[in-house]
Amino acid sequence: MGFMARILLGVSAGIAIYKSADLASRLTQNGHEVRVILTPHALKFMTPLAFRAVTRQPVYTDIFEDDPAYRPEHISLPEWADILVIAPATADVIGRIASGLGDSLLVLTVLACVKPVILAPAMNDRMWANSIVQGNIERLKAVGYQFLDPGSGYLACGSVGPGRMKEVSEIQSALEAELARSQKK
Ligand SMILES: Cc1cc2nc3c(=O)[nH]c(=O)nc-3n(C[C@H](O)[C@H](O)[C@H](O)COP(=O)(O)O)c2cc1C
Repeated sequence: MGFMARILLGVSAGIAIYKSADLASRLTQNGHEVRVILTPHALKFMTPLAFRAVTRQPVYTDIFEDDPAYRPEHISLPEWADILVIAPATADVIGRIASGLGDSLLVLTVLACVKPVILAPAMNDRMWANSIVQGNIERLKAVGYQFLDPGSGYLACGSVGPGRMKEVSEIQSALEAELARSQKK
């Protein structure tokens, strides 16, 4: 087991969300402290309870929630974290980050974050091929965001093609590698 890290896991409203609880659980089992931020739309798919239960840590969703320390969470959470990973990253969340729009706690936290940020996009194959989506990704890559590009395969919408979120084990390995790299600096 490597270095025990503080990991912020951002979860947006893609159907691959059901794999995010597994990711949160595996990272916790590896000794990491994992705090989850769900977008408001992610709450349509899952409740905070599942993430709270597997991480035994608080789960965050609301920009305006009263913080006991009177420090906004979008400032304190990225200071607390060693790394931020977003899985799944929807086309919407990628676009909002690329445009600097801080209207959800997750995107706002990314905008206030100076730690490494890794995104694992997941979406329908035509959405993935959309040049606006690809342009947003290029823009974010150019300023240092790391992307774990989706694989090709069966998609929940019924089609087959690129857009499938990277396997949980691959996201986990990429995260551990980035943590090891940033620890050496
Ligand atoms: C059943 C269902 C599945 C969806 N899956 C995805 C997806 O895999 N990727 C994606 O980018 N958007 C997907 N969407 C659309 C997003 O939920 C929608 O754009 C939402 O506004 C994203 O909110 P968020 O990015 O703030 O979490 C899906 C919507 C529905 C109804």
